[in-house]
Amino acid sequence: MDFNLMLNAHRGFAYLILLAIAVFVVALLMTMFGYSGKISKLLRKTTLFTMIFFHTQALIGLVLLFFFSPGFKSAKESGMLMKDPTMRHTYVEHPTAMIIAAVLLTILNKKFKTNDKLQMSWVIIGLVAVTLMLWAFQWSRLFGA
Ligand code: HEM
Ligand code: HEM
Repeated sequence: MDFNLMLNAHRGFAYLILLAIAVFVVALLMTMFGYSGKISKLLRKTTLFTMIFFHTQALIGLVLLFFFSPGFKSAKESGMLMKDPTMRHTYVEHPTAMIIAAVLLTILNKKFKTNDKLQMSWVIIGLVAVTLMLWAFQWSRLFGA
């Protein structure tokens, strides 16, 4: 295993997560605005898949951060980790926000698995998780030049 292999795995899962999140948001809103508010099979499945992708991504990301990333190492050594906005976003804000989002999704998965009716507070938790993820996503690194 080396840095590039792990980074490519992290990039690959990032696409999967974007897809999964899109279906998750649609399923969540459909359930919310649906007549019965009954948690659908689609919502259960997409929440589970989104959550599993997030767990996997978190594992890969943490290994990248603490074992491989040359960028993180030099940012720490130069003392610029928290001073430079770009470094702080990639190596601090990105991992922190994504882990929080993963925790929220894990809670949601539990709720959806064990309940039949959707509650408004769970919709809010879901949207907070999605917002965190969209904010912390490394858009320019994945799709930029
Ligand atoms: C950074 C590493 C990881 C941490 C800290 C972590 C943490 C957790 C936690 C706290 C739970 C909730 C347990 C519960 O329901 O009480 C969970 C569930 C789960 N995780 Fe992870 N996980 C990690 C990596 C992974 C990976 C790599 C996979 C699979 C590819 C995975 C798949 C799952 C699945 C399938 C569940 C059960 C979901 C369910 O109950 O329906 N996790 N994990
Ligand atoms: C959950 C914990 C996570 C941790 C600890 C983590 C960690 C990291 C680290 C350290 C880097 C920079 C690698 C480097 O350049 O040295 C990175 C980049 C990146 N991460 Fe994460 N990440 C996490 C979750 C996620 C999630 C959930 C996504 C997607 C939804 C994601 C998508 C990306 C992308 C697209 C990059 C840029 C890759 C590149 O520069 O080519 N990460 N992540």
